[in-house]
Amino acid sequence: MILPIVRYGHPALRRKGVPVEVLDSEIRQLIADMFETMYDAHGIGLAAQQVGRALQLAVVDVRGITDRPSTLFRDGKPADVDEAMPLVLINPQITPVGDPVSGPEGCLSFPEIYADITRPESIEVRALGADGRPYAFRCGGLLAKAIQHEVDHLNGILFKDRMTKASLEEHQEEMEELMAETKASLK
Ligand code: NI
Repeated sequence: MILPIVRYGHPALRRKGVPVEVLDSEIRQLIADMFETMYDAHGIGLAAQQVGRALQLAVVDVRGITDRPSTLFRDGKPADVDEAMPLVLINPQITPVGDPVSGPEGCLSFPEIYADITRPESIEVRALGADGRPYAFRCGGLLAKAIQHEVDHLNGILFKDRMTKASLEEHQEEMEELMAETKASLK
C-alpha cells in the first residue's frame, strides 16, 4: 500500500524514532509499504518518520541512480552494491570514517528542493535487516550519503538543518511556503 509522505512542517518529522523491539507482521507490512511508497515517489530512501511513524526504521535503494557511484565493503573486502539492495535499516548505528564531502541532496518531504550537503564520505553501518539479523558494512559515495540522510530522519534531523547559510537563504521562501501548506493541511 502506498502511504502518504508527510512534508516539512509536519511534527512527525521532528520525532526521534524508538527502537524496533519486535519484528512482527505489522512491522513487516510497514517495511513493504515503505518500499512501495519510496519507489512510487522515485526516492532512494525513506524513513518511518516520513510516513508518520517515530521508529528506528528506514529503507534505501540506490540502484535507480547510475551517475553517482556507491562503494561497499564487507569484512574489508569490496562487495557488490546492487546485491545489497534493497536495504532495510532497523535500529541502525553509523560511524563516520571518511573525510567530509559535499554533494547534492533532496528529500521526499521537501519536494523540488535540492541543496549541497556536507557529510563524511564513508561510514560504518550496523543494523538489523528485514529478517531481524544484524549486519555490518562500510560504504561510501551515494549510499553513504543516503544512509546518513535517513539516519538523520530517525533522529528528527532534516537535511535543511545541515544546509549552508547560502542554501538556506536560497530556499527560505519555498520552505516557508511548504511549511505553511503543511500546517494548513493539519488543521
Ligand atoms: Ni529525506
